[in-house]
Amino acid sequence: MTMSQHTSPYRGVADRRADSILIRPALPEDAAQVIAYARGVFAEPGINLITAPDEFNPTTEAEARMIVEMNRSSNSLFLVAEDDGRIVGQLTLQGGKRRHVRHAATLGITVALEWRNQGVGQRLMEYAIDWARAGGVLTRLELFVFVRNTNAIHLYESCGFEVEGRRRRSTFRDGEYLDDLLMSLLL
Ligand SMILES: CC(C)(COP(=O)(O)OP(=O)(O)OC[C@H]1O[C@@H](n2cnc3c(N)ncnc32)[C@H](O)[C@@H]1OP(=O)(O)O)[C@@H](O)C(=O)NCCC(=O)NCCS
Repeated sequence: MTMSQHTSPYRGVADRRADSILIRPALPEDAAQVIAYARGVFAEPGINLITAPDEFNPTTEAEARMIVEMNRSSNSLFLVAEDDGRIVGQLTLQGGKRRHVRHAATLGITVALEWRNQGVGQRLMEYAIDWARAGGVLTRLELFVFVRNTNAIHLYESCGFEVEGRRRRSTFRDGEYLDDLLMSLLL
């Protein structure tokens, strides 16, 4: 099935799909835009992430350093999705720092609200998984996702991730406890 023949019940008529989006490793000069983008996502009401906007205050220099370090490393990756110069998504693989866990990386992903459900997440995931496979260092990708985040779970399962367990009350936000799932993909 080609992208344009996609028939998911969740896709709207204004489906632009992600063919025009550029997926690439982040550069240090993206740092200011990456920070502004991430702040916007963290500030969305009810967003399925654990970081509150006031908990994310890196300097541009620190963010740029982190981008360089991650993309220089053999088990970490910082990707952005770019729409005509504007960052509309990001994916990070944070590889284990210690020798015995260097084969495993934790995945985090967000797509800008106006670009969700159009395949940008899928393109970011495919890039990251291909990169991890080609690198030959990572043999395990893992992530945590709220049980209620059904579109994210759908995306992860479509990329081959499997549920390993449920963490009850892993998060407390907006006055309620939330459970999340630990999911992984063995490469
Ligand atoms: C999760 C997220 C990264 C996915 O990115 P995206 O670009 O929207 O993903 P895609 O469009 O590639 O894929 C979404 C899939 O979910 C499906 N979907 C949409 N709503 C759904 C729902 N309520 N239940 C199940 N599946 C759903 C879509 O149809 C699509 O599947 P398909 O390709 O088989 O049709 C994005 O929604 C996001 O940034 N959310 C906010 C932050 C977040 O939750 N990040 C993940 C934290 S673990």
